Order: sequence, then structure tokens, then C-alpha cells
Amino acid sequence: MKYILFLGILLIILSGCSSESNEVTGDVVVMVPKGEVAKDEFIISEVSSHNSKESCYTIIDSKVYNLTEWIGKHPGGENAILKICGLDGTSIFRAQHDNNPKQVNQLEEFFIGNLV
Ligand code: HEM
Repeated sequence: MKYILFLGILLIILSGCSSESNEVTGDVVVMVPKGEVAKDEFIISEVSSHNSKESCYTIIDSKVYNLTEWIGKHPGGENAILKICGLDGTSIFRAQHDNNPKQVNQLEEFFIGNLV
């Protein structure tokens, strides 16, 4: 009888262990691009602090874009991008590129989150 009780307890302990290991294998791994922040909501002061060639965020239509990599690649020159770093670049971007699909698609590559 004692032996059966012992086996029962052992079974309960082992099943506890296995559900724990399932939790571990069920962990979600979030891949974050190098140098990127693992979040998708920004407040204006966070965007404002990324106002340089080293780190350039801009807002277009309440969406936040990290343009840092694009500064040196922009066909319209570095300065066009630098002047909207840390700012709401909506009107400047639209004045130049309007809703041209080529530029809009390029912009979407740099999307990092929404302004809240
Ligand atoms: C904010 C993100 C921006 C993106 C993603 C972007 C994207 C692009 C792309 C893809 C081109 C090449 C177009 C082509 O080959 O036909 C381009 C060209 C150009 N961009 Fe931008 N641009 C941005 C911002 C700006 C801003 C703020 C200005 C000026 C204030 C500007 C001025 C220009 C100019 C003058 C050209 C060359 C002429 C033209 O194709 O219109 N860009 N841009």
C-alpha cells in the first residue's frame, strides 16, 4: 500500500516537472533587429531624441520610421532626410513625394511603430 502511495506521489511530481518544461519550449522568441528597440509605440519625446545622423526617427501620418540607414542611400541627398530627423516629417515628405508608390513603399521598410 505504501509502495502504491509512493508511486502516486512520484507520478504527481513528475507530471509537474513535464508541464514546466512544456512552458519553456512554449516560450516566444522575439527577433529584434540589431540596434532596434523591442516596442511598437512611441511618444513624441522619444522620437524627438532621435534627431541626428547617428539615429534618425521621423513621424509621417502618426507612424514612426527609423531613417538612419536611409540617410546615406537617399537619391535626393542626405540633407533632405536630416532635416526631418526627430520631427514630424509629414508635410515635407508629402510636398516632395506626395503619395508616389515608389517612395511610400520605400518608407514602409523603415516603419518601427505608431505614435501614441
Ligand atoms: C522620409 C523618407 C523618404 C523616403 C523613403 C524617400 C524616398 C525616395 C526615393 C525612393 C527616391 C528615388 C525616386 C526614384 O528613383 O524615382 C527619392 C528621391 C528624391 N527624394 Fe526622397 N524620400 C524621403 C524623403 C525625402 C524628403 C524629406 C525630401 C525633400 C525634402 C526628399 C527629396 C527627394 C528628391 C529631391 C529626390 C530626387 C528626385 C525625385 O526622385 O523626386 N525625399 N526619395
